Amino acid sequence: MNPTNPMLTPEVLANPYPFYAALRESTHPVQKLEALMGCYVVTRHEDIVPALRNPALFSSKTTPGGRPPEELGEDLLRYFQPGNSLLFNDPPLHTRLRTLVSRAFTPRRIADLEPRIRELASGLLDTLLAREEPDFVTDLAEPLPVIVIAEMLGIEPERREDFKRWSDAVVQSTDFSTDKQELPRMIADLRDLNAYLEGAIERRRQQPREDLISALLEAGEQEGLLAPIEVIAFTRLLLVAGNETTTNLLGNGLVALIQHPSEWEKLAADPSLIPNAIEEMLRYEPPAHAVFRETTADTELGGQVVPKGSRVMFLIAAANRDPRKFPEPDRFDITREAQGHLSFGHGIHFCLGAPLSRLEAKVAFEELFRRVRRVSFASGQEGHIDWGGSLLLRGPRSLRLRFERR
Ligand code: HEM
Repeated sequence: MNPTNPMLTPEVLANPYPFYAALRESTHPVQKLEALMGCYVVTRHEDIVPALRNPALFSSKTTPGGRPPEELGEDLLRYFQPGNSLLFNDPPLHTRLRTLVSRAFTPRRIADLEPRIRELASGLLDTLLAREEPDFVTDLAEPLPVIVIAEMLGIEPERREDFKRWSDAVVQSTDFSTDKQELPRMIADLRDLNAYLEGAIERRRQQPREDLISALLEAGEQEGLLAPIEVIAFTRLLLVAGNETTTNLLGNGLVALIQHPSEWEKLAADPSLIPNAIEEMLRYEPPAHAVFRETTADTELGGQVVPKGSRVMFLIAAANRDPRKFPEPDRFDITREAQGHLSFGHGIHFCLGAPLSRLEAKVAFEELFRRVRRVSFASGQEGHIDWGGSLLLRGPRSLRLRFERR
């Protein structure tokens, strides 16, 4: 942990919203903070939205906030070049890549997954509820998105455990607060993942299947845009972007419901409110707190001059609590109009996986409410939530609970 980083103090990690509010409501709502990697930090909804709509001025071709690349070693580094990464590109390349991967990731494909997601969520919940004081995070919120994306990609079921480990390593590789001692294991896992994916791609080139890797290869070959190494990079992006975020949505959402029993009761009485409740969970306690850009010219933002080449941190979690956009923003209200939250980003990089994570959360909460009358923290868990060591991705590391079945 870096003690000089104001976003990593124990108080802010436990509850970052007063810190965000102080930045947002200060006389300088856009500030350069040396301790935050020298970023200009932007917190107001009205400043963030137009900037994210302007990729020509606020470029995504910025260094990812991950581990220093030299730590990874030569052989791995070649897999980590931003190259054709969707997330770290601007138009026109971004537009072409996005069109291409969207074809393999259509809303139709996602909607078709609902029965299988329900089957998976039901199975995980039944196992969880058979336990005395289960851990909602490790028993449901972590495995569900990992299994779903593994099945979409066509990973063999017997490799799931490995896949979870690899997927955790990918997330770690983007987190500058990862403990140095964990690096050798992380690097070994990343190598294994690459080797596995190279084999998986080769098998599909010889014999295409009905899965996302085959669809990406096919789309890539047609356009000559996605070479196998880019299919690997995109798969890795799906793991980072999709797994821990969805885990956090499920964990954060349930914590908010436990802490607000009136909202739990509303959902128990009328589960058709679940989709709106999920939007409020995303607004109130977002799984990812910031997105980054780099300015391509001198500009002005929130009354502050931001020079060309500056790194800008858009604190979407602060904008979600901006009282100018959301009245009484610190109130968790599952019936409020939460549209306009920025938890999936905004503009051309708007989250590709938003329909998938919304579907997973809807199904998981529907199945939970079908089985459970009441839920509370297990003894010792209340007031002791470990939110992890980073705010870029925020969610409970573990959540031991007591469930009262219907
Ligand atoms: C982009 C959040 C789930 C894939 C983004 C961005 C955010 C975000 C904030 C914008 C980044 C930027 O503007 O720089 C979330 C949250 C999720 C979630 C909160 C869950 C609740 C998923 C899932 C997948 C996914 C399940 C895929 C399986 C992506 C991809 C991008 C992206 C590929 C890049 C899109 C582009 O650059 O055009 N996500 N995400 N995400 N997300 Fe998600």
